[in-house]
Amino acid sequence: MTRREKSCLRVFQLCPFPRVFFRTKYCCGRLQLQFQPPNYRFGSRRRRQFFHPPLPNYSKNSQRIFLQTMSCSTLFSLKTPLFPSAAVNRFINLRHTSYSVTTASLNLDVHSNPKPLLNENPKKSLEVIADEKKFVVGTYARVPVVLASGKGCKVYDVDGQEYLDLTSGIAVNALGHGDPDWVRAVTEQANVLTHVSNTYYSVPQVELAKRLVACSFADSVFFSNSGTEANEAAIKFSRKYQRYSQPDETYPPTEFIAFTNCFHGRTMGALALTYKENYRSPFEPIMPGVTFLEYGNIQAATEMIQSGKIAAVFVEPIQGEGGIYSATKEFLQSLRKACDNTGSLLIFDEVQCGLGRSGYLWAHEACGVYPDIMTLAKPLAGGLPIGAVLVTEKVARAINFGDHGSTFAGSPLICSAAIAVLDKISSPALLAGISEKGRYFKELLVKKLVGNPHVREVRGSGLIIGVELDVSAAPLVDACQRSGLLILTAGKGNVVRIVPPLIISIQEIDRAVEILIDCMPVLDDHVSTN
Ligand SMILES: Cc1ncc(COP(=O)(O)O)c(C=O)c1O
Repeated sequence: MTRREKSCLRVFQLCPFPRVFFRTKYCCGRLQLQFQPPNYRFGSRRRRQFFHPPLPNYSKNSQRIFLQTMSCSTLFSLKTPLFPSAAVNRFINLRHTSYSVTTASLNLDVHSNPKPLLNENPKKSLEVIADEKKFVVGTYARVPVVLASGKGCKVYDVDGQEYLDLTSGIAVNALGHGDPDWVRAVTEQANVLTHVSNTYYSVPQVELAKRLVACSFADSVFFSNSGTEANEAAIKFSRKYQRYSQPDETYPPTEFIAFTNCFHGRTMGALALTYKENYRSPFEPIMPGVTFLEYGNIQAATEMIQSGKIAAVFVEPIQGEGGIYSATKEFLQSLRKACDNTGSLLIFDEVQCGLGRSGYLWAHEACGVYPDIMTLAKPLAGGLPIGAVLVTEKVARAINFGDHGSTFAGSPLICSAAIAVLDKISSPALLAGISEKGRYFKELLVKKLVGNPHVREVRGSGLIIGVELDVSAAPLVDACQRSGLLILTAGKGNVVRIVPPLIISIQEIDRAVEILIDCMPVLDDHVSTN
C-alpha cells in the first residue's frame, strides 16, 4: 500500500547550520528530504538520517518539523512514523542562510499505517471536549486529550491513541493503572461494604491507620478526602494543640509560616498557606496570619519561629508544584530545633513527595528529621480520593470528639485500596528500585541534555524529577503529548515535572527520554525568560 510522490520544493535559503521548516497537512509514512548547495556532487557526501518523532501539531490541520544539522551536509533523510495519503501541502522553507541552494526535492513514500500514532480523526475526543466546555465549570486549562483507559504506565484516549504516562494523575497512580492487587482490593471490598459513616467503626480504616503508624513517626491518624483537606485538618489541629497546651494563655500562638514556591491546596486555610499570589488574591480575604519565608533560609525561619506567635510551620521536604526543590538537611534540622525551643509544631506536607516517590517511604527520612504532623494524600489510595493527617501522641491528645470530621473520609472502600498501595510501596525492594530508576532517569536526562542551551538544571530525588528550562515548558509538553508522552509543568511554568508511576520500567524510561529529547527543538523558537 505504498505510493511514491516526488515533488520540487521551494527553497529559500541555506546556511552552515540550516534549519528546515516543513509544513504539511498530515504526517504519515516516510518523508525523505534532499537539498543541494552549489558544486555539490551527488553521492559524495555522508548521508544523514533523522528519525523524527511524530510531529508536533501547531494548528488543527498542519504539522511542523524542525531539522538541525551542525555541518553543511547536504542530504537529509527524515523518517516520520506517519504520513497520510492525502492533502500534502508541500511547503519547505530553509531559513537562516549564508549561501544559496540550487535544487531540492522531496521524495515521499506514502503508505497507510495500520496503527497511526497521531489520530487523523479524533472525533470522539472533539465531541467530549466541546461538551466539557459547555457543561463543566472552566477551572482547568486541560490538555486536549480525553483519556479512557490505562494499564501500567500507559494510558489510552477515547480514539485509541496510546500515551506513556509520566504524570500518573499528578503523582497519584503510584502503582500505575489497573494494578491487579489494587483492583482486587477495590472490587472485593466494593462487593462487601463501600461506605459507612464515621458514626461507626470499620475494619479497613483501623487497619490502614495501624499500618501508617507502624511505618512512620506517628502515633495516630486522621483521614480526609484530599491533600487540601488534610492540610485544613492540620491547621485546625495545630491551633487546637496550642490552645490545649497553653490553657492559661489568653493569646496562644495562632500564626503560620510557609515558604516560597510552596503549594498546600486550594481550600481557604490551605490556600492561605500557598505561595502563588494569583491563586490567593481573587478569593481574599483568606485566613490571616501566614508569613511566607524563603525556602531554605534558616536564619529568617529561626527568627520568626522565636517570635512565639507561630502555631505551626508548614514545609514540603520536596516541593512538587513549586518546581521540584528539595529542602536541605540543615534547613529541616534548624526548623525542628526552633520549633522544639518554642513549642511551635513542625508540619511536613508530603502530599506529593511522600509514599515512596523520593525513593524513601517518607521524603523526610532522607534528612533524618521528623515532624509533629505529616499530611498525605495523592498516591495513598492509588487513584481513589484520600487524605491523611499523621500526628504524634502529644498532638492527638489535644483533639476531642467533634473537633473535626468528614462524611466520606476513611470509608472501607478507600481504606482497602490504600492498604493494598501501602503494603506494596513500603516493600524495601520496591523502594530500592525507585531510587535506582530515579538515578538512572536523571543521569540519562543529564547525559542527553548536556549542552542544550534551554536546560538550566535537572534535579529531584527518586521519581520526582524536574528539568528547569530557560523558556516556558508548555510547547515541549504539547509536542511530547503529540508524540505519545504525557508530562507536566511546575514552578513558573518553566520546569518539566516528571512524576511517573513508581513501577515504571527502564525500557519505558528510555523511551520517555527519547521522545523528550526528540521534541526539545520545539523550544528553539521561544525566547528565553532570562
Ligand atoms: C504538596 C501538596 N499539598 C497539597 C496539595 C493539595 O492536594 P489536593 O489537590 O488533593 O487537594 C497538593 C496538590 O498538588 C500538593 O502537591
